[in-house]
Amino acid sequence: MKKMNLSRAENPCFLLLLVTFQVIFVLILYRGSSSVLFQGYLKVRKSLDYSKSEDVYINLSLFTPAPDKATMQTCKPQSDIIVGLLTITFDTLHSERTIIRKNPYVRSGGCYSPPHCLARYKTAIIVPYRNCEKQLHHFLYYLHPFLQRQQLSYCIYLIHQAGSGPFNRAKLLNVGVHEALKDNDWDCLLLHNMDLVPENDYNLYVCDEYYPKHLSTAIDKLYYRLPYSSFFGGVTALTPDHYMKINGFPNTYWERLGEDDDIAERYYLLKSYNIQASIKSLQTLFEEK
Ligand SMILES: *[C@@H]1O[C@H](CO)[C@@H](O)[C@H](O)[C@H]1NC(C)=O
Repeated sequence: MKKMNLSRAENPCFLLLLVTFQVIFVLILYRGSSSVLFQGYLKVRKSLDYSKSEDVYINLSLFTPAPDKATMQTCKPQSDIIVGLLTITFDTLHSERTIIRKNPYVRSGGCYSPPHCLARYKTAIIVPYRNCEKQLHHFLYYLHPFLQRQQLSYCIYLIHQAGSGPFNRAKLLNVGVHEALKDNDWDCLLLHNMDLVPENDYNLYVCDEYYPKHLSTAIDKLYYRLPYSSFFGGVTALTPDHYMKINGFPNTYWERLGEDDDIAERYYLLKSYNIQASIKSLQTLFEEK
């Protein structure tokens, strides 16, 4: 992930930045068969040449509407236009007009479904927000094509906190999930800080069925390393079912660091709960025999 750089004096988002400890990206190493694991590793290492990256809009125009909606096929498991490293820069600020022009298939409300195939995953992107218009432009300019490259059906929900009182990120996330679930039966809730932009389109914005997933484990400003092992801030993905099981997020962190850690603890408890539940079901299986 690439983190936006903004100075305190000129940016109203400073507090938001402070509250939201940062991000990203997970390089998904594709799995070779076990016998060629090592070669597979070398191959991946070689392809991660940071001097070469592609424009985030490259080849998106290959996705053209299917001639007949009724007979449209399900999308391929892996998109044809995935390239890996993307060129991300915050030097140019793109206008809203440009963003709209470059994303012709995005519907009003910030939603998209692939025009050429039936999406395999439906992901809601939930973004806590307050008065950071510049950041918003950078974020949307890169995130829309990034999600389209992965053939997702998605909506981006900006959850704006009114007024100038203390910022409450976790509460905004709760509101976002609540609103998103009214619209659609999403496969995945993707909780996203707005100052982080993914740098590699192999970092798939889909959920793991079993556990919440941390997508921003490597952030440029943090030297692509986790600041501490239980760090779970920035960008995470969980299913609506996980969300219900952890009883949502804490509403009580106003302008304070720590809500990330509270959420991480909930994820951790969910994990041990799931492990215990599977042990229990195994035990019942044995008892029945
Ligand atoms: C874009 O698509 C063309 C045609 O499929 C392909 O030859 C080219 O390699 C693609 N470019 C990138 C950067 O993936």
